[in-house]
Amino acid sequence: MPALSQRVAAIDPSPTLALDTEAKAMKAQGLDVVNLSIGEPDFPTPAHIGLAAQKAIEAGFTKYTATEGILPLREAISAKFRRDNDLDYPPEQIVVSCGGKHALYNAFQCLCQADDEVIIPVPYWVTYPAQAILAGARPVLVPTDPEREILTPEILEKALTPRTKALVINSPGNPSGRAYSVEDLARLAPLIKKSGLWVISDDIYESLIYDDRRFVNLAMVAPDLKDQIIIVHGVSKTYSMTGWRIGFLAGPLAVAKAAAKIQGQMTSNPNSVAQKAALAALSGPQEPVAQMRAAFAQRRQKVLQALSQIPQWSTPTPDGAFYVFPRISALYGSRLGGRVIQSSEDLAQVLLKEAQVATVPGTGFGAPDRLRLSYAASLEELEKGFGRIQAFLEGKSLSLGR
Ligand SMILES: Cc1ncc(COP(=O)(O)O)c(C=O)c1O
Repeated sequence: MPALSQRVAAIDPSPTLALDTEAKAMKAQGLDVVNLSIGEPDFPTPAHIGLAAQKAIEAGFTKYTATEGILPLREAISAKFRRDNDLDYPPEQIVVSCGGKHALYNAFQCLCQADDEVIIPVPYWVTYPAQAILAGARPVLVPTDPEREILTPEILEKALTPRTKALVINSPGNPSGRAYSVEDLARLAPLIKKSGLWVISDDIYESLIYDDRRFVNLAMVAPDLKDQIIIVHGVSKTYSMTGWRIGFLAGPLAVAKAAAKIQGQMTSNPNSVAQKAALAALSGPQEPVAQMRAAFAQRRQKVLQALSQIPQWSTPTPDGAFYVFPRISALYGSRLGGRVIQSSEDLAQVLLKEAQVATVPGTGFGAPDRLRLSYAASLEELEKGFGRIQAFLEGKSLSLGR
């Protein structure tokens, strides 16, 4: 067979999707697997959103649309930025894509070329380095403040080189759940301004922030930096619409035009029916968002309580999103389920095979001493999953249902 591109060889498959696939295959064999691997709300998409999609089909809204997304949807996104963030992004500065992942891909393709460097704070969502590489750039993985797991100006300053093109800020973050405060972002702003780099602000978990914390992004804190910022967002997590595949970016007009040009040669418009559904989500009642947030907040408490019973793990308290990211390396070298645990991959495998709980090793997120567990599962599933993990780590025998 002739060779494939070096580009494709340079990236790894998504480890989160790989674990989810393995868990689903075990489920298909009839095994009672608790899947805590995937970042997907378990709630159904709110009914009025599905209804809008049905109406769109009935009305024959099934043809190509404007590449950058239908105007009413971009108007609704523009209104969302005004309503929730006090930010002014007119519809011309917004491009709707096939999920936040696709919006991010467009952003990297717009910004980066060979030899550019993209600063990615660790731990990071697995997709950032891969997409930087696909755009020809070099991901520069930088440590974060060990206590808060956020980027500080001191760390950023050390990472900057003449080739630095962009920085990714994801808050609340996947996998850490940590969120930047107004002060955190205000401290970064002068250096970002001085260095003239692009900032990709991944706001996908905006609605999932707990306790008395309030979501902020860099554009809200430092409006004078707006020309350097691209916001990536979507409806997947906010409205439990992961399968509909609608995301968007907002940024300077030149970026929106460039992203639309790339999209026009790549996918054309995102799905027409899903755009109508996203329009209903963004412009309709927002109560379901508050209800889902409240449910996640309750699950977070339960999960943190369960984790406090696992002395071998130490878990920072997440501010938002729906993940916990315990440090698990205290277990390395110990024997569990008939094997010596040397890595987070070993632990994830043994938990999947012996306790039938799917988790994701930290390695893919740049944190080989950690394990990611999603609490976007029902309270019953969480109780079962964490109960099994605790019992397994205590060496108790488990009765696993089929
Ligand atoms: C940090 C982060 N950004 C963006 C996305 C993209 O989500 P989607 O493509 O479903 O909109 C995800 C999904 O897991 C994510 O975790």
